[in-house]
Amino acid sequence: MTALKNDRFLRALLKQPVDVTPVWMMRQAGRYLPEYRASRAHAGDFMSLCMNPQFACEVTLQPLDRYPQLDAAILFSDILTIPDAMGQGLYFETGEGPRFKKVISTLADIEALPIPDPHKDLGYVMDAVSTIRRELNGRVPLIGFSGSPWTLATYMVEGGSSKDFRKTKAMLYDNPQAMHLLLDKLAQSVTSYLNGQIMAGAQAVQIFDTWGGNLSAAAYQEFSLAYMRKIVSGLIREHEGRKVPVILFTKGGGLWLESIADAGADALGLDWTCDIGQARQRVGNRVALQGNMDPTVLYAKPEAIRSEVGRILASYGKGTGHVFNLGHGITPEVNPEHAGAFLRAVHELSAQYHE
Ligand code: CP3
Repeated sequence: MTALKNDRFLRALLKQPVDVTPVWMMRQAGRYLPEYRASRAHAGDFMSLCMNPQFACEVTLQPLDRYPQLDAAILFSDILTIPDAMGQGLYFETGEGPRFKKVISTLADIEALPIPDPHKDLGYVMDAVSTIRRELNGRVPLIGFSGSPWTLATYMVEGGSSKDFRKTKAMLYDNPQAMHLLLDKLAQSVTSYLNGQIMAGAQAVQIFDTWGGNLSAAAYQEFSLAYMRKIVSGLIREHEGRKVPVILFTKGGGLWLESIADAGADALGLDWTCDIGQARQRVGNRVALQGNMDPTVLYAKPEAIRSEVGRILASYGKGTGHVFNLGHGITPEVNPEHAGAFLRAVHELSAQYHE
């Protein structure tokens, strides 16, 4: 296996010294890049990109080729591959986001759900990971990922995206046992899926809990965090002689950082609603932090982007344990030159915070 030429992303997650603050962007391979739109047109549609390891590899590498500052690659795929492998029939309606042919609404539906085998049912993802890892040739580490059980459950029960999670919340309060069975099956599925990605070559993993912040404080503990804790405790934490760091990202989780920091992960992802310096004080030495620039800052001019990067770096302060990122995914309308200005600013302005 080729040695890593740039490992500052893995080092920062483990709070080891770095020369500059490492940076990557959630959704860094996506529609804001003209080369991505060309590949998608060539493949036919989004799911064809995900299901063909050569295409998945091509679009994963596009942002790295464009921006030499990126310190990590992220597998090109989607969180909804798991419900698809459970038989729900994922499809994307242009401009409408994800949809499922089969929606989960009763205890019987949940009891009938299989736990996917990562190699048999999600082999295209495992193949994408090993292909990307080979093509990266040690340039930067590769991040694998999954959705959190709660976030996956919202899509499975609503049948797609939702503003208010009406059906999912009703199931949670009317029939908590059914919800717990669904979340438990998802936790088992996510654990073996992420372990499959790690064995195929993922060097860090991130769990996207995009909708955890929509729960009450009590429900978050019981229906989201408890299952992420269970997953973390079942993950392979060392592979190829190196630690495999785990990042938990609950969007809207700023009020609960102390308890998320106790879930056993190496790092927490932060959205832009919390101050990263205060977050650092609250979690202490337990975890590293990843984040947290408001992605809409990228609509502003490069000078404004640079000053916001400087503010966040100063708030975090000196020392390792920070991976710079956006507080959520980059949006399709962003000018790619602005993303470049953002990435350059992180490396240029962060050297002063490291020995
Ligand atoms: O970060 C990366 O570059 C890796 C790729 C990645 C995608 N989806 C590609 C994608 C990752 C990490 C995801 C995760 C994902 N998918 C999440 C959690 C992260 C988050 O943003 O909170 C969620 C909730 C999904 C479900 C999903 N997939 C939605 C709601 C949509 C539609 C979104 C939209 O903006 O239209 C998708 C489609 C999707 N996943 C696209 C991409 C690049 C756009 C598809 C296209 O090209 O048309």
